[in-house]
Amino acid sequence: MPQTVKGVVVRAKDAPLEIVDIVVPDPGPGEAVVDILTCGVCHTDLHYVHGGVGDDFPYLLGHEATGVVSATGEGVTEVEVGQRVILNWRAVCGQCRACAKGQPQYCFNTHNAEQKMTLTDGTELSPALGIGAFAEKTLVAAGQCTPVRDDVDAAAVGLLGCGIMAGVGAAINTAQVQRGESVAVIGCGGVGVAAIQGARLAGATTIIAVDIDQTKVDQALRLGATHGVNSREEDAVEAIRALTGGFGADVVIEAIGRPETYEQAFYARDLAGRVVLVGVPTPGMRLDLPLDDVFGRGGSLKSSWYGDCLPSRDFPMLVEQYRLGRLDLDAFVSERIGLADIDEAFVKMSKGQVLRSVVEV
Ligand code: APR
Ligand code: ZN
Ligand code: ZN
Repeated sequence: MPQTVKGVVVRAKDAPLEIVDIVVPDPGPGEAVVDILTCGVCHTDLHYVHGGVGDDFPYLLGHEATGVVSATGEGVTEVEVGQRVILNWRAVCGQCRACAKGQPQYCFNTHNAEQKMTLTDGTELSPALGIGAFAEKTLVAAGQCTPVRDDVDAAAVGLLGCGIMAGVGAAINTAQVQRGESVAVIGCGGVGVAAIQGARLAGATTIIAVDIDQTKVDQALRLGATHGVNSREEDAVEAIRALTGGFGADVVIEAIGRPETYEQAFYARDLAGRVVLVGVPTPGMRLDLPLDDVFGRGGSLKSSWYGDCLPSRDFPMLVEQYRLGRLDLDAFVSERIGLADIDEAFVKMSKGQVLRSVVEV
């Protein structure tokens, strides 16, 4: 039987958020219904509201979530009813060229649930990032569910579903930070601080937090950075070099998505160092670098998509690191709120007042 539950919907560009009845169908083949426990509030949800992701209104918002599987469709082997899961954006196909090369994170044929959730009048909903978890229940492809242990705080581990994974993964997967390396992170919002935690987890010994906002630098120092640089007051490149024996960092992670800070990252790395771009640029942004510097400095320039994560490998592993006290996910949970408080959480997020507001459904 299709079930009617509450969900947070935006009907048109910049329209107010509404808590409305949504209809969640029984799961079809390869699908699962998940009873949502928690869902973090992310910048991308706000991009959906502003029409920055697409024009497929109405959207069912929320995508950084944990829940418990309450029903599975035919042929589902990934999860069982009753399991706690962290949701990811897309299920991979397992068969395309990327999947065959062992790089399912670049799968060409990702999918979400085939069936649509609807409003009570039958209007089809577009779930944010194929999830739609500011709701009591949601319908996803079973491959979007990664089972994880259920004896830890759901609000904390649910953050691995999006921004925190992007930051941690930029350090551990994309940069492959090694024990004893130096890492600088430019931009210390939620993603940057997560990259700092990833660098610490990987064994980096010099971790430099760079931000123009001193409160962000101080926060990063509390959460794992060994040195802080206020780049409004000092030159970021010079400061990072000075803290690394005059050389530059082995790894520099840019967690903002701007050409000027990317350029700082480029020049703040050691010869043969790695630069990782995890901040998402605005379409059309360009970068102008002298080619002889690209050539002469060696090393690599990489981007990190979703932390280059493999959910089935990384989510359970990071939940264990959290349980063992090596990854401080609790620090990212700035407040626990209800579905009705999301508007206010968007404002706090925009003002940079929180690392994460987490909705407990
Ligand atoms: N130099 C240094 N720091 C800066 C600069 C700058 N020129 N401009 C902004 N910042 C800092 C801000 O002060 C803030 O602390 O960058 C940080 C950005 O943090 P948030 O806005 O909280 O963003 P976050 O959620 O961390 O995401 C960062 O990663 O995944 C992407 O889409 C995401 O592009 C975004 C980026
Ligand atoms: Zn997100
Ligand atoms: Zn594939």
